[in-house]
Amino acid sequence: MTEKFKLDLPQRPRRLRRNAGIRALVEETVLRPADFIAPLFVVDGKGAPEPIGSMPGVARFNITDLVKECRALSKLGVPAVALFPKLDASFKNDNGSAALSENALILRAVRAVKKALPEMVVMTDIALDPYTTHGHDGLLTPDGRDVENDATVEVLVKMAVLHASAGVDFVAPSDMMDGRVGAIRAALDTAGFTQTAIMAYSSKFASAYYGPFRDAVGSAKAAGTRSLDKRTYQLNPANRREAIAEALLDEAEGADIVMVKPAGPYLDVIRDVREATRLPIAAYQVSGEYAQLHAAAKMGWLDLEKTRYESLIAIKRAGADMILTYFAKDMAAELKLGK
Ligand code: PBG
Repeated sequence: MTEKFKLDLPQRPRRLRRNAGIRALVEETVLRPADFIAPLFVVDGKGAPEPIGSMPGVARFNITDLVKECRALSKLGVPAVALFPKLDASFKNDNGSAALSENALILRAVRAVKKALPEMVVMTDIALDPYTTHGHDGLLTPDGRDVENDATVEVLVKMAVLHASAGVDFVAPSDMMDGRVGAIRAALDTAGFTQTAIMAYSSKFASAYYGPFRDAVGSAKAAGTRSLDKRTYQLNPANRREAIAEALLDEAEGADIVMVKPAGPYLDVIRDVREATRLPIAAYQVSGEYAQLHAAAKMGWLDLEKTRYESLIAIKRAGADMILTYFAKDMAAELKLGK
C-alpha cells in the first residue's frame, strides 16, 4: 500500500479560506453604497424615461423623474450624483453657447435636486461636449482641426461659476484643457464660492470606452461619428508617467479630488496616483465598461451580478476612494440586502 502524499508546509494559505466566517474576517477591501457616485442623464420636457440602447438599464430622465431617482439612490445610501444633460440638437452650435445660458437644463436640474434633497451631493460636468455640434469638449481652432485651450478655459470658468450659483457641491471639469482647474478655482473664489469643490477629471484617457456615453448625451450623433478623436487633449492610453503628472498638476492648481478615467483598464494608474497624492481619488467606471458586462451577460457568457461586483472591488482595491458607476443603484441595493 502506498502512503498518502503529504507536503510538510508551515504556510497553508487555504486555512484562511475554509469558510465564509474566516473569509469575512480576512477580507481586505469592502464596498459600501457610500462609495458610489451615480451618473444620471437629464432631458427637458415631461416625457417618459428614454432608454439608451447601448446602456441597458440606464435612461435619460426628465427633471421630475430625476429627482425621484435621486431620492431612491439616497434611500439606498448612495450619497452623490453626477448630472449630465442631453440637449435637443436645436440647442447645439459650434461654440456650445447654450452652456452659458442662465436657464440651462443642467442648472434647473441641479436646483430641483438640491431643493428636494439638500443632503444629496450634486456634481456637474464642466465641458462643452453636450452643447457643441462637433461633440468636442471645447472651442475649435479656426481651421477646425483642434480644440483651442485658453479660449475654452475662459468659457469653462464661466460655466463653473454658473453651476456653483445653482448650488452644486462639486464642479467636475472633464475637458482636459491645460490650466483649467486653477482658473476655475480662482473664479469660484472671486465669486464667493469658496466652498464649491472641484473634482478634476485629471488622468482622463482618450478612450474608446466612452462610446455609449456619447450616445447618451448625443455628442456622437451631433458629430456624426462614433469615434470622435480627442487625442490632442485626452491622455494617450500608453502613458503612465504622464497620467501621474496630470494628477499632480491638478492638485497643485487646487483640485479637491482627482480622478482616473476609465477605471477598470487603468487600475495601475489608480494605484500610481494613490501613491503620488494624499488627495481622495475618484475612479470613473465608464459607459463602455458597463456596456461590455451587460452585453456579455445578455449573451449568457458572464454572470452580471458577480462580474459587476468584481469589477468594482478591483477598482477600490487599486486605491479609489469613490467610484462613479452606472451600477451604483443596483450595486447599492445588492449591498444593502447583504447578499
Ligand atoms: C465629456 C465626458 C465624457 C464622459 C464623461 N464626460 C465623454 C468624453 O470625454 O468624450 C464619459 C463617461 C462615460 O463614458 O461613461 N467631457
